[in-house]
Amino acid sequence: MEKILTLGIETSCDETAAAVLRGGRELLSNVISTQIPLHQKFGGVVPEIASRKHIVNIMPVIDEAISKAGVDLREINQIAVTFGPGLAGALLVGLSAAKSLAYALKIPLVAVNHLEGHIFANFISAPELEPPFLSLVVSGGHTALIKMTGYNKFELLGQSRDDAAGEAFDKIARVMGLPYPGGPEIDKLAKLGNPNAITFPHPKVTGYDFSFSGLKSAVLNFLNTAQMKGESINSADVAASFQKTVVDTLAEKTLSAAEEFKLDKIVLAGGVAANSSLEKTLRTACQRRGLEFFYPSKILCTDNAAMIACRGYYQSLEKIFADSTLNAVPNLGL
Ligand code: KG4
Ligand code: ZN
Repeated sequence: MEKILTLGIETSCDETAAAVLRGGRELLSNVISTQIPLHQKFGGVVPEIASRKHIVNIMPVIDEAISKAGVDLREINQIAVTFGPGLAGALLVGLSAAKSLAYALKIPLVAVNHLEGHIFANFISAPELEPPFLSLVVSGGHTALIKMTGYNKFELLGQSRDDAAGEAFDKIARVMGLPYPGGPEIDKLAKLGNPNAITFPHPKVTGYDFSFSGLKSAVLNFLNTAQMKGESINSADVAASFQKTVVDTLAEKTLSAAEEFKLDKIVLAGGVAANSSLEKTLRTACQRRGLEFFYPSKILCTDNAAMIACRGYYQSLEKIFADSTLNAVPNLGL
């Protein structure tokens, strides 16, 4: 039997993306049109501008994904689209395109949770990966530890009570005068600094929940105090020390959850998975404990439609389809 072709569509934030996946793991095309330069002068994503730009981009991006995949639009068997979480106006652009195409082509529609999608990026990067495993999802809007026992079986072990890890990176970068998005900038700057130069307080949350707002305030206070006193700071040291505190917290919780739930595979996901220190820290810790460690290729860490197509494919195997009444759910949880 011919393998199923899934068209993935993603417009939850500031990337307009479309991808074609053959079967569950073979990526034929992965097109991402980023709006980052557009939002940079505002220091963050402006929702209204994001929606308008998605409207302009969505059809050309889908066309490009189809042509790069070397297939005909009529060969597509199903469409997987992000319906949340994300910006309402942005999500609606992808949803409208997906619903119209599914209707016109008379093919099924699959509604994908963006956060679950991030985890599935790993199945494309590592075709041998299978559940059960423990996943640490760290993105701009979410931080969560998830136990995955099957392709459609997730158990939320803990999540952020306030700021997500990526959000903390972005806010601190902004105050330090670095461009949006701040995560990659802090990552770069931290390589030049001493991670043990400044001791920032470790977030004190029991169990597997996270909290990064206290740490964020501590770093902001440190920067403000130095400015008021007219003291010069070594920004590379600040970046490295802040990053180390975040990475150590994420790694500690992940490793203790793996031990408690007896999971021998750790799967990193979300935009912050692109952080070089987080990847290195977890890799080393996993090696020491004899755990297998997976993380997506850089381009599949941040927002893309390949992960949405992959998540959608595994839902379709269990006939979890949506219909034309599908709406955006901006605050969708896991
Ligand atoms: O998953 P993602 O692309 O979008 C959301 O679903 O939120 O994640 C974006 C987040 C941003 O906060 C960005 O600063 C962060 O991922 N990020 C990084 C790195 N690359 C992206 N954070 C730390 N280090 C990086 N190298
Ligand atoms: Zn994302």
